[in-house]
Amino acid sequence: MNDAIFPVYTRRLELRFHVAEDAADLLRVYSQEPVARYLLEERWDEEYTQEQLAKRLLRTTLDAEPHALSLVVADASGRYVGDLALWLTDVEHRQAEIGWVRDPQCAGLGYLDEAASELLRLAFGPLRVHRVAAQMDARNTASAALAERLGFRREGHLIQDLFSKGEYTDTFIYGMLARDLPAKDPA
Ligand SMILES: CC(C)(COP(=O)(O)OP(=O)(O)OC[C@H]1O[C@@H](n2cnc3c(N)ncnc32)[C@H](O)[C@@H]1OP(=O)(O)O)[C@@H](O)C(=O)NCCC(=O)NCCS
Repeated sequence: MNDAIFPVYTRRLELRFHVAEDAADLLRVYSQEPVARYLLEERWDEEYTQEQLAKRLLRTTLDAEPHALSLVVADASGRYVGDLALWLTDVEHRQAEIGWVRDPQCAGLGYLDEAASELLRLAFGPLRVHRVAAQMDARNTASAALAERLGFRREGHLIQDLFSKGEYTDTFIYGMLARDLPAKDPA
């Protein structure tokens, strides 16, 4: 079980499992059009938030069903600043995918860089993942830039592979192995 690993602390942030009290922050963030724009789902409403939170509360391990981690990223005051997900897409071959969302109020601070790089270190360390993928709508330049800052390699560009929000869209596929992790900042 991965319960023993979390919460994890970085220089400015905490990565912790979700709790029921996160509903208000999730609704506030995921109901915003700029957040939902390149996600496959529509803007969240209250009912959908409760459904999604109920699923996230169960995502606490890669070692058993649901083979997924859903983590809140909180700042030093405990405030929600974003969230991360890591899930196994192939249990036998230890293939995983990562997902990220940042609170628009916390833009320009590099919070998701800090949190995701820690999660990737854990993925290739105690979580025993062999490869991590990141996929995004090819128009999602902020997400692609984050992937590249983290050390992901763009391995594919799928042309109009998804019908999302009324139109066909392209997908970028990024991949990372342990050897692609940037050296840890000694600071
Ligand atoms: C995708 C997403 C998480 C990317 O977030 P982000 O842009 O990397 O978040 P931030 O603004 O905190 O970090 C980037 C900026 O902070 C700056 N920054 C400041 N301090 C930094 C630090 N310590 N480390 C890294 N970057 C730092 C970077 O230079 C960058 O500036 P720029 O935007 O002018 O290039 C965010 O856009 C988002 O939540 N989008 C909506 C949901 C979504 O689409 N998720 C992805 C689905 S695939």
